[in-house]
Amino acid sequence: MGNVTVIGAQWGDEGKGKVIDWLADRADVVVRFQGGNNAGHTIVVGNTEYRFSLLPSGVAQGKLSVIGNGVVVDPWSLLDEIARVQGQGLAITPQVLALADAAALVLPLHRDLDAAREARAGAGKIGTTGRGIGPAYEDKVGRRAIRFCDLGDPAALETKIERLLAHHQPLRRGLDLPEVTAEAVLSQLEEIAPRVLPFVQPSWRVLDRAAKAGQRVLFEGAQAVMLDVDHGTYPFVTSSNTVAGQAAAGSGVGPRATGYVLGIVKAYTTRVGEGPFPCELKDEIGERIGQRGAEFGTVTGRKRRCGWFDAVLVRQSVAVSGVDGVALTKLDVLDGLETLKICVGYRLGDRILDYLPAGLSDQAAVTPIYEEIEGWSQVTHKARSWRDLPAAAVKYVRRIEELIGAQIALVTTSPDRDDVIMMRDPFRG
Ligand code: IMP
Repeated sequence: MGNVTVIGAQWGDEGKGKVIDWLADRADVVVRFQGGNNAGHTIVVGNTEYRFSLLPSGVAQGKLSVIGNGVVVDPWSLLDEIARVQGQGLAITPQVLALADAAALVLPLHRDLDAAREARAGAGKIGTTGRGIGPAYEDKVGRRAIRFCDLGDPAALETKIERLLAHHQPLRRGLDLPEVTAEAVLSQLEEIAPRVLPFVQPSWRVLDRAAKAGQRVLFEGAQAVMLDVDHGTYPFVTSSNTVAGQAAAGSGVGPRATGYVLGIVKAYTTRVGEGPFPCELKDEIGERIGQRGAEFGTVTGRKRRCGWFDAVLVRQSVAVSGVDGVALTKLDVLDGLETLKICVGYRLGDRILDYLPAGLSDQAAVTPIYEEIEGWSQVTHKARSWRDLPAAAVKYVRRIEELIGAQIALVTTSPDRDDVIMMRDPFRG
């Protein structure tokens, strides 16, 4: 049995948490490899709902969980999350959680910058989660980030803070933000250091050991391919690579170790924040899908924009991320709709496109070409076998499979852990 990498194949919020939780049951190690506390994965176990933001979803099952070097970590948010889930009965100890020594930190000054820029951008705002993710990745790439390993080296930490502030003070002045002092940043970091350092280690070694012991690893992606900084709807994207290829670089394993790539795909499309969305429905059907699907962000509570299934977009995600198979989620949300539409191409002026172009103005100008397909009146909610699905729902799933060019491995029909129809076991490839 091999490893599995799970990624979102639309604009996020595809229901990755539930699928990851389901797969984590059979994994030995669960790894986050990008993003930060902009992510929100919800898992329902019996009557308990866990909301994970930075913690790998494997902690719900006591699996060894790794926050890889590719993640940017807000340590205060992490400590809050640990306290919250411990309050729900999960034990988060250094035996269960490893934090990459090379992971860059998200500091309060990153959140300040994120908020100030968004506030000034007016209509051009990205609609970020406001967690400071973009500014933190900028500092990482700019080689001035504070990393977990720095917290254990107080002498070097002071110099690093000076270097970081030499960059931030002029930015803050330009945005009318108050100056921050090196002493203040140092004392904040000194306060949290003893609380996080017990978890910090060279996490690539943890994964190397796991590989040598023949353990099964689940790589847990956050956000989604259309929010990837290279492959998404730039600049309306997040600041990390979200494609499956990042699982290797963001955790410190070779590219072959990432195994079967499972793309999570919702049976319709949603997007939160600004940016192009060709299949968006601004009518009562969009409203109905949003209500039935409870389409409100787990991180910011924002209402998600809803639309028909866009097969062009997902086919593109399948290609750029090397998706082997797909988990189709929230099929039950479409129960009771008389007719469904699937986007099979775009019109751009007098051209017909079978892909989403890279330029923002083209992305905003494309209009969807729809194929209509019959809906179903029966209930698919909580179906656990292919036989439980009405014929029209089976036809819808099969048509999606054909259009996106990847097998449907799983179908989920409720937020409940066990309501999954498995056609193919991702761990068996
Ligand atoms: P940032 O990641 O906070 O910088 O936000 C950039 C864009 O990514 C915004 O459109 C956010 O709404 C979107 N985004 C970030 N994280 C998520 C997520 O976990 N689900 C859905 N959208 C997200």
